[in-house]
Amino acid sequence: MSYQTVYDRAMSDPATFWGEAAELIDWDRPWDEVLDRSNPPFYRWFSGGMLNTCYNAVDRHMRAGRGDQPAIIHDSPVTDSRTTITYAQLQDQAARCAGALQALGVAKGDRVIIYLPMVPEAVVAMLGCARIGAIHSVVFGGFSARELATRIDDAKPKVMIAGSCGIEPNRIVHYKPLLDSAIDLAEHKPTHCLILQRPQEPGTLIPGRDLSWSAALAAAAPADCVPVAATDPLYILYTSGTTGQPKGVVRDNGGHAVAMAWSMANLYNVQPGEVFWAASDVGWVVGHSYIVYAPLLAGCTTVVYEGKPVGTPDPGAFWRVIQEHRVAVLFTAPTAFRAIKREDPHAEHLRHYDLSGFRALFLAGERCDPATLHWAEQILGVPVIDHWWQTETGWGIAANCLGIEPLPVKPGSPTRAVPGYDIQVLDDAGEPARPGDIGRIMLRLPLPPGCLTTLWGNDARFIQSYLSAQPGYYLTGDAGYLDEDGYLFVMSRIDDVINVAGHRLSTGSMEAVLASHPDVAECAVIGTADPLKGELPLGLVVLKAGVTREPASIAKDLVKLVRDEIGPVAAFKNVVVVERLPKTRSGKILRGTMKAIADGKDFRLPATIDDPAILDEIASALAAIGYAQGYVRGDHRSGS
Ligand code: COA
Ligand code: AMP
Repeated sequence: MSYQTVYDRAMSDPATFWGEAAELIDWDRPWDEVLDRSNPPFYRWFSGGMLNTCYNAVDRHMRAGRGDQPAIIHDSPVTDSRTTITYAQLQDQAARCAGALQALGVAKGDRVIIYLPMVPEAVVAMLGCARIGAIHSVVFGGFSARELATRIDDAKPKVMIAGSCGIEPNRIVHYKPLLDSAIDLAEHKPTHCLILQRPQEPGTLIPGRDLSWSAALAAAAPADCVPVAATDPLYILYTSGTTGQPKGVVRDNGGHAVAMAWSMANLYNVQPGEVFWAASDVGWVVGHSYIVYAPLLAGCTTVVYEGKPVGTPDPGAFWRVIQEHRVAVLFTAPTAFRAIKREDPHAEHLRHYDLSGFRALFLAGERCDPATLHWAEQILGVPVIDHWWQTETGWGIAANCLGIEPLPVKPGSPTRAVPGYDIQVLDDAGEPARPGDIGRIMLRLPLPPGCLTTLWGNDARFIQSYLSAQPGYYLTGDAGYLDEDGYLFVMSRIDDVINVAGHRLSTGSMEAVLASHPDVAECAVIGTADPLKGELPLGLVVLKAGVTREPASIAKDLVKLVRDEIGPVAAFKNVVVVERLPKTRSGKILRGTMKAIADGKDFRLPATIDDPAILDEIASALAAIGYAQGYVRGDHRSGS
């Protein structure tokens, strides 16, 4: 069937289309309605249906004879180890984890926060929760104790599961001390913590609260799968919002399982038994969907990689993993390929490996620049597919669906809407933009299965953040255009979200941290173009009158403050002290103009600017630290 035929079927009769797709999943009770439209704008998929996600991801594969097939391959260059876990072993471990959680009083609907590095136990912990209907919330290890505390207070977990440490190439990440201080900072206190003791840095257990993960699992009675409603939450995943308060994206069980299973065959063209590798982190949505749930729901082998594309030990790391584990499809962020290209521009390392079983590379998480796309295509000789999605949707919105019909690639475009998604680009008046004209990228409701159902405990914020810009549409927060062939081009964000090495961060949160410093009167954080990470944050601060400390020493404080308050993942390393910030006459800081100046891009002088002379000052300050190349003084434009 052609892409167009499948797309049209999904759009004209979503109930039949997704009802058929739902046959990929085993149900304890069939649904009453595929698409429940009774309470718009809250649409529900498979209402009345009952299932268990862990059962579908693990137990049922035993019956299909996959017990001895590897479910997880943990490849960890940072600890120099490889471990394989079969589906039978995974079933045992997930059941024991579920039993250990039950023994600690965790039941259906209770929350469990998981704070683990890239180890198989992270997958076991997620499945253990799903097995008993507990709602997990995985927090990425690169966040600070304060960010973890914010999530603890929002999700209010009964139990937390954490590692004693994580291993970055240049240092040990002290998970256990971070966990302890997060719990100290949080108002809500979990009753127990299960701690995975890693030999590289075991943690000190707090008597009465902390238990050893391995002892608890060894002692636990394996728990059976608990059927839950299709519409019950499976997990909460926090993502950057426009305020300091992260948004708790809620994913359901039924729609999620169907979308994940359908996407493996239709989007990624991967069959049961094949090896799928998403080189991301379980703390991000890519990790949730394509390290954990989708490959396991499809009966594939998933690779959990605890390493980097470069430096662990060299830029041949990805090729080694593909060869050694016979990876069929790899999914990562363009930044990983930029990192490899920077260190090995002619892909010399690739010559040492046999990638004959490798079929396709999928890229997402940030805009895929055509240069990276072409380089990857040229060195790998397989289709390289850019696809666009976000934490909220949980899976691809626009993609070249290899399992349906590969479409011609247009570099810079993630191709066309995935069946189920109605992508519209609207202008400021809410009218569809003409082909080629940039506007807000919106999705017409209802969203397909697998997308967020609300924000945790906050339906009002869900509506206000996503559904109120244009009635009947979901606001993606991205701007871009559709061309005359229906290909989407995603160009930028319309909010303060920036994308650093495929990680989504809020400049607003960073500004809040800078503003909390006693010497700072005013500040702005902008995302500047970076050839490796796509974007990097840059802080511009105005000091309070009378501050006599050296600006360099204050800048050092500020870098440390952001690292402590948000985490190393923010990659906040550049700050410049300026006399004043450019503003409109109504007092709005002109961040977009400063970004254009920093990046050396041409820009239009804002008509409402209060004092254009400030732009010269900003450009000089930025030029002193290597930005603002090509800026023409007094002309208020860059030379590009
Ligand atoms: N736990 C603790 N700290 C972490 C971490 C984790 N799980 N992951 C990253 N960090 C830290 C890093 O150590 C680094 O700290 P540093 O300032 O002390 O060096 C900081 O956070 C920034 O990390 P990162 O953005 O990953 O930069 P990097 O320079 O270490 O690596 C790349 C750059 C491109 C190699 C890396 O970002 C990468 O592999 N990206 C692959 C794509 C990806 O994972 N995308 C996610 C969504 S698909
Ligand atoms: P996250 O929620 O962390 O996955 O980040 C989602 C955001 O990353 C999107 O809203 C986009 O801004 C950006 N993004 C993800 N994939 C792509 C892509 N293929 N092309 C352009 N931008 C992307």
